[in-house]
Amino acid sequence: MRILSGIQPSGSLHIGNYFGMMKPMIEYQEVGELYCFIVNYHAMTSVTDGKQLATGTLDAAMDFLALGLDPDQSIFWVQSDVPEVAELTWILNNITPVGLLLRSHSYKDKIAQGLSPNHGLLSYPVLMAADILLYQSEKVPVGQDQQQHLEIARDIAIKFNHLFGETFVIPEAEINPNIPTVLGLDGRKMSKSYDNTIEIFTAEEGLRKKIAGIVTDSTPVADPKDPEKCNLFAIISLFLSEAERTDLAERYQRGGLKYNEVKNELFGRIWEFFGSAREKREQLEQAPDHVREILKAGAEKARAKALPTLELAKERVGLGY
Ligand code: ADP
Ligand code: TRP
Repeated sequence: MRILSGIQPSGSLHIGNYFGMMKPMIEYQEVGELYCFIVNYHAMTSVTDGKQLATGTLDAAMDFLALGLDPDQSIFWVQSDVPEVAELTWILNNITPVGLLLRSHSYKDKIAQGLSPNHGLLSYPVLMAADILLYQSEKVPVGQDQQQHLEIARDIAIKFNHLFGETFVIPEAEINPNIPTVLGLDGRKMSKSYDNTIEIFTAEEGLRKKIAGIVTDSTPVADPKDPEKCNLFAIISLFLSEAERTDLAERYQRGGLKYNEVKNELFGRIWEFFGSAREKREQLEQAPDHVREILKAGAEKARAKALPTLELAKERVGLGY
């Protein structure tokens, strides 16, 4: 089975990205043919500083490699290294109703957040459809927030096949209900747009500061506390076994628990959990050219898979003559 998903290099990756997207992707390597890429064309819709985009792209690649993505087992590349995806986007633009794009929640949310309503932002789902269709992807593991984008990709594929003949595999979203929504420092969903993130690879001091900033309630130390209402408990649970989680819940309910103690434990857990990945990342940082080579080799593999589909689509619409 061909599984494809991408992540935007639009900020340092955080533990919400890790548990929600990167970890499941890395695990998919064992299950099927994994296509994993850094979507820098998409990130252009929100990042307008070229240097930041370039650095973010290499950083995201290093994060994935350090966390266990194996470029020999999967196809791992940077979106713009296969620019044919932009060619397919143009082809798909011509069968995509503007009304469909105007109804996108993600577009409306971004406008509400103050992003300029330019054509790139509107066309974001068409580029995403091209990403998916170009590689004849069968399964696309995404978070709930991307479900509508997947529906748009399916609509576009169905319409294209109907108008021009069978060309694209109709992709399916895979929304895994077991994947947690990771909460941020303030108890809302962890997201770079809320500035409530804990980055995966922060230096020790930065990590301690972030954890100190986790908002907790003002229940007196001696009183019993409700673990289910505590975002600190939700965050540390990601790093605990079932038995450890039960123990900690009991400590909450018993009274006498200091949130600071739990924060210290959380620091230790995160530091240890990402310890070997941190070492690997430090090595990769010393060898950026090696990382670039891995990405270029991945792009060649991706292009080889993409070209037959693009050629077929071009022929079907009449660009072959
Ligand atoms: P952000 O919200 O920080 O901008 P993105 O929207 O770029 O993050 O998300 C990239 C990937 O990480 C998506 O697949 C998304 O579903 C996943 N993800 C992001 N935040 C979380 C979270 N708090 N919990 C679980 N998964 C998340
Ligand atoms: N829009 C996705 C996100 O923000 C990223 C993305 C771009 C993607 N192209 C994709 C995800 C193709 C899956 C498949 O999370």
